[in-house]
Amino acid sequence: MTKPKILIARAVFPEIIARLEQYFEVESNQGDAVWSGAELAQRLQDKEGAFTTGGERINAAVLAAAPRLRICANMTVGYNNFDLDAMTAAGVLATNAPDVLTETTADFGFALLMATARRITESEHYLRAGQWTRWGYDMFAGAEIHGSTLGILGMGRIGQGIARRGAHGFGMKVIYHNRSRLEPRLEAECKACYVGKDELLKTADHLVLVLPYSPASHHAIGSSELALMKPTATLVNIARGGIVDDAALAAALRNRTIAAAGLDVFEGEPQVHPDLLSVPNVVLTPHIASATLPTRLAMASLAADNLIAFFTRKAPLTPLNPAVLAIK
Ligand code: DGY
Repeated sequence: MTKPKILIARAVFPEIIARLEQYFEVESNQGDAVWSGAELAQRLQDKEGAFTTGGERINAAVLAAAPRLRICANMTVGYNNFDLDAMTAAGVLATNAPDVLTETTADFGFALLMATARRITESEHYLRAGQWTRWGYDMFAGAEIHGSTLGILGMGRIGQGIARRGAHGFGMKVIYHNRSRLEPRLEAECKACYVGKDELLKTADHLVLVLPYSPASHHAIGSSELALMKPTATLVNIARGGIVDDAALAAALRNRTIAAAGLDVFEGEPQVHPDLLSVPNVVLTPHIASATLPTRLAMASLAADNLIAFFTRKAPLTPLNPAVLAIK
């Protein structure tokens, strides 16, 4: 029996490829070549499935060039690389990889908050540059974390993980804003109070962004939102680039409209706005919030499970446009 053809669009764990090869004729990219949209489309021309990593845009143009394509499985929870409407119209199932990265990503969000508020990378650069000659009473004085007010914008699973760490581990007062309010049981578990967006911006000592990117959340944090924040506040973005207006943020950091920022995601990444590279009060990391090997393996395994389930006529675990399944 011929196996369905799939494309694995980026380098991935060899054991995942070996597993997929039991079910599929696999074209992989273990050299991790950078493909243009046209090249991706050309490689998908004869494929029925794709294993994607969140960076490959699956839009109407790619779908038009891939008439046999039936499923794209992202190994990431974020899926702003998918044009879901176009995929649904083309009858292509989209899946993502939620849950398996929640706690790891929340750990990193908290680590970035602490590194930012306590000026860890800035002070390390100072030390490495040989500038440390003696101790000073206010040297690299940062912001308190314990007992302060933690604001969370976007209260999905990762936001809740950060809230639990802040409330239970650091005695922080937790406030949040989200499209919809959490059910009372979850609010109690996270010790989190729902507030309006402006109140969140005005009150938080540390604001963590964990909302999904969509046209509606584009530049949810721009110069007017930054102007509402406390001059002592910390901003952390582990969600997606584009949620923050990076040029406005760099200006706010330079002018000390806010004290500091920690960014794991950027508009147009892997490019980083040059103004962010030249301000000292920002901690910059290359989109690594979910990067532990066990978690990345769990993410890739879930994407593989979704592909295998789809082609063995079982229900994919995490479909994003299940309407496609109802049509089939
Ligand atoms: C995700 O899963 O969306 C992350 O941003 C990738 O690490």
